[in-house]
Amino acid sequence: MKTVLVTGAVRNTGLAIARRFAADGWGVALTSRDAAAAEATARALKAEFPQCEALGIGMDPAKVADIRAAFAAVRDRFGSLDAYVNNAANLGVGYSVLNSTEADWDAVMNANARAAFFGAQEAVKLMDQRNVANVGVLPITNANSQLHTGKLVTLETGNNGNWQHSSGSLVFISSCHAKKAMPARILYTASKAAVGGIVRSLAVELGPLGIRANAILAGAIRTDRWDGFSDEEIAKRRARWPIGRETTGDQIAAMCAFLCSDAAATITGAEIPVDSGIGVCLLANNPNWMESDPDNAKYLEATKNTKGTKE
Ligand SMILES: NC(=O)c1ccc[n+]([C@@H]2O[C@H](COP(=O)([O-])OP(=O)(O)OC[C@H]3O[C@@H](n4cnc5c(N)ncnc54)[C@H](OP(=O)(O)O)[C@@H]3O)[C@@H](O)[C@H]2O)c1
Repeated sequence: MKTVLVTGAVRNTGLAIARRFAADGWGVALTSRDAAAAEATARALKAEFPQCEALGIGMDPAKVADIRAAFAAVRDRFGSLDAYVNNAANLGVGYSVLNSTEADWDAVMNANARAAFFGAQEAVKLMDQRNVANVGVLPITNANSQLHTGKLVTLETGNNGNWQHSSGSLVFISSCHAKKAMPARILYTASKAAVGGIVRSLAVELGPLGIRANAILAGAIRTDRWDGFSDEEIAKRRARWPIGRETTGDQIAAMCAFLCSDAAATITGAEIPVDSGIGVCLLANNPNWMESDPDNAKYLEATKNTKGTKE
């Protein structure tokens, strides 16, 4: 049974991703800062998809010790890992250049960028323990993965004898904010841009070991935060996006499933948009676009006064 760890997976996009892997028969470990909620979600997955194995783990992505403990729990339960989906995030709403404190920077960057890095570090150890000892100490010298020890780790040995086979996949749920900016999201934007650098570096360092790393530039996802929107508000949102409708958690999950499949065996270091086209929408580049729309003006005013994770 293949195994995956999905962070922040008791609601919204993370839950959709966990459900997709469970439906596909994977062993699914999932995290939440609320351990009881994670355990309840794991029980619900097992009830809905009896063929899967599910494990709920309490983990705050902003704490490296929590991350390490979560992977230890995965190792104890499943022994190894095939895929890691870094989904949990501090949405960093309301942080502007002038109102952000050092503590705000740490909160957003730790939950998003630092968690991405240390999550990947732990995931890789569980994905390929045979070769991982070489990763930290030995620079890769050429495209054939000739390592400085004099030991040759070929593409064949690094990929269990078959280079078309993916031995591990790291997927980071990033954001269209990694490439574009809007007011009062500066820390979130910085953290998601950092994820892009982490992904590219992981791709280069881990490719020879058969481990791939990619980011999904998500956007316009329907979540429980939409529950309070009127039909008119939803229609206005949709009208601003090229595709004209929101992206669902299931669509993000489908991209995760693809990136963790052998069909994606040669895709690494990519940032792939799944965002209803918002990431290429020129309207979003107009610095006045928020104020020019009465709904956005309202939203912008609210974010000035309320730092947090609610959009
Ligand atoms: N919604 C969108 O339109 C959108 C757009 C672009 C990118 N994304 C990205 O897609 C992913 C999922 O987004 P979503 O909207 O589905 O997210 P969400 O449900 O709001 O957040 C995902 C999980 O992250 C954890 N989390 C929230 N705030 C946190 C904090 N301050 N510190 C640490 N963990 C925190 C929560 O898990 P627990 O409370 O259970 O710990 C939460 O369930 C995120 O990486 C987000 O950046 C979303």
